[in-house]
Amino acid sequence: MAFSVLSSCQLPQFIYFLLVALTTFSVISTAFGERTLKFVTVLYRHGDRSPVKAYPTDPYQESAWPQGFGQLTQDGMRQHFELGQALKERYHGFLSEAYDRHQIAVRSTDFDRTLMSAEANLAGMYPPNGSQVFNPNLKWQPIPVHTVPQDEDRLLSFPLPNCPRFDSLLNETTHTEGFLNVTRLYKVGTPQPLGSEDFLEMLRNKTGLKDASVETVWSVHDTLFCEAMHHLPPPAWVTPEVMEKLRRLKDFSFQIMFGFYKREEKSRLQGEFKFVKETEWEEEEEEGLGSVGVLLNQILKNITDSTVLDSKKLLKMIVYSAHDTTIVALQSALNVFNGKQPPYASCHIFELFQEDNGSFSVAMHFRNDSTKEPYPLALPGCTQYCPLEDFVRLTKSVIPENWEEECQVPSRIRDTEVIIGLTVCGCLLFLLIGLLLALLCRQQDVKDGYRHVINEGDDNS
Ligand SMILES: *[C@@H]1O[C@H](CO)[C@@H](O)[C@H](O)[C@H]1NC(C)=O
Ligand SMILES: *[C@@H]1O[C@H](CO)[C@@H](O)[C@H](O)[C@H]1NC(C)=O
Ligand SMILES: *[C@@H]1O[C@H](CO)[C@@H](O)[C@H](O)[C@H]1NC(C)=O
Ligand SMILES: *[C@@H]1O[C@H](CO)[C@@H](O)[C@H](O)[C@H]1NC(C)=O
Ligand SMILES: *[C@@H]1O[C@H](CO)[C@@H](O)[C@H](O)[C@H]1NC(C)=O
Ligand SMILES: *[C@@H]1O[C@H](CO)[C@@H](O)[C@H](O)[C@H]1NC(C)=O
Repeated sequence: MAFSVLSSCQLPQFIYFLLVALTTFSVISTAFGERTLKFVTVLYRHGDRSPVKAYPTDPYQESAWPQGFGQLTQDGMRQHFELGQALKERYHGFLSEAYDRHQIAVRSTDFDRTLMSAEANLAGMYPPNGSQVFNPNLKWQPIPVHTVPQDEDRLLSFPLPNCPRFDSLLNETTHTEGFLNVTRLYKVGTPQPLGSEDFLEMLRNKTGLKDASVETVWSVHDTLFCEAMHHLPPPAWVTPEVMEKLRRLKDFSFQIMFGFYKREEKSRLQGEFKFVKETEWEEEEEEGLGSVGVLLNQILKNITDSTVLDSKKLLKMIVYSAHDTTIVALQSALNVFNGKQPPYASCHIFELFQEDNGSFSVAMHFRNDSTKEPYPLALPGCTQYCPLEDFVRLTKSVIPENWEEECQVPSRIRDTEVIIGLTVCGCLLFLLIGLLLALLCRQQDVKDGYRHVINEGDDNS
């Protein structure tokens, strides 16, 4: 009896053990044996910075910061140096130890803090060794970081012309039940039934910002957060509870900007975040974006290129140095955004692999914590190692085919305006000619009187 019980238990156990062993083996063999890394794209946020602005009553105005507003701090430099070292380690054996200009291309937005972040990052990635040492006292070598002027940047921070459809999407967002729920929670503007404190009214009073709202309040958090990071004692009204509320509102404003409502369409269009930018206090630079679909399209194009031109192509890594909004926009477009503002020097990674059968797959990771391994991010509807074709197919919906058309940029209305304008001009010209002709005729009639007037004029001059 006892024996038969035991054996009937042991058999399934043995099969289970076998299955586990087999799966483990197959996982290991695909991970380390047959899957080879081919190409990497990295998009990171700049490191720790001074605040972009101070609110009117802020005791710490621009002079409180060694380099003024919006600048990378030494903490930020260290964060990126560390990220550079981590990337060097992660891609050890993939990238050559020594810097090779054919292998890596770096592009940054045209801001001091993103350019400097990229430089600090590269210092961590490529300390010179051997023949690359040009000054024995310096563990650093110059490596190019490319950029384009802010108003020409169509990739990482687009000042694309306004997209009316996107503006109306944002307006629609502010009328959704979900948005109004949050708004009610913090009592924005309009009189509300008593019960909860009027958080935003308090904020307006304390900061001197007349127009503090759910959409703009993230800046207050940002300023206070930067000050706290640099051990500047906060004013009395900034309690931990207030900071926590601000933090939640800030994360919420990131969500409504890029997702929350009609995410795919927002990703396709993503014009400027207009209702942030219109307010008096908002800085234009932090950090308006154009269509993230264009960026994603470019990333996928470069990835696909690297599968085709494999033998000739030496390029192994593209690096983008950008902003929290760039990461949020990209991750929202991919539907992998976790709802939290990406921390300083956080890094979204795309890796292209070739499987043992020759096919290609894309894996994504997010390094948002330097003490942890990067988090794997799987595209919804796909596996962690997503076949490239599936990746492209699943992201098609966020890539605009014709941005202008989809934005309903009223080009026909503009045409009509031009036609009306021309017609009016034509009519005016016609009238003028008529008037001149009439005058000429009159001149014939009253020649003397007319001449008299002209002579008078001449005498006076
Ligand atoms: C520098 O290069 C030498 C020889 O090429 C190698 O032995 C050494 O480990 C390298 N040092 C570093 C820090 O990479
Ligand atoms: C926003 O939407 C509301 C209702 O959907 C509409 O009444 C309002 O005019 C819109 N505002 C703008 C600026 O488009
Ligand atoms: C709004 O809040 C109410 C009550 O708190 C809740 O029942 C409802 O589900 C919320 N709606 C949305 C869209 O979040
Ligand atoms: C805040 O409210 C108090 C009391 O109502 C008022 O005296 C003060 O001027 C207000 N501050 C600002 C910046 O509006
Ligand atoms: C990525 O692709 C774009 C568009 O095809 C191309 O212009 C660009 O040079 C590529 N980037 C690199 C670093 O090769
Ligand atoms: C980092 O990202 C992961 C995955 O999205 C998320 O679970 C985690 O909370 C994030 N951590 C921080 C510090 O943002």
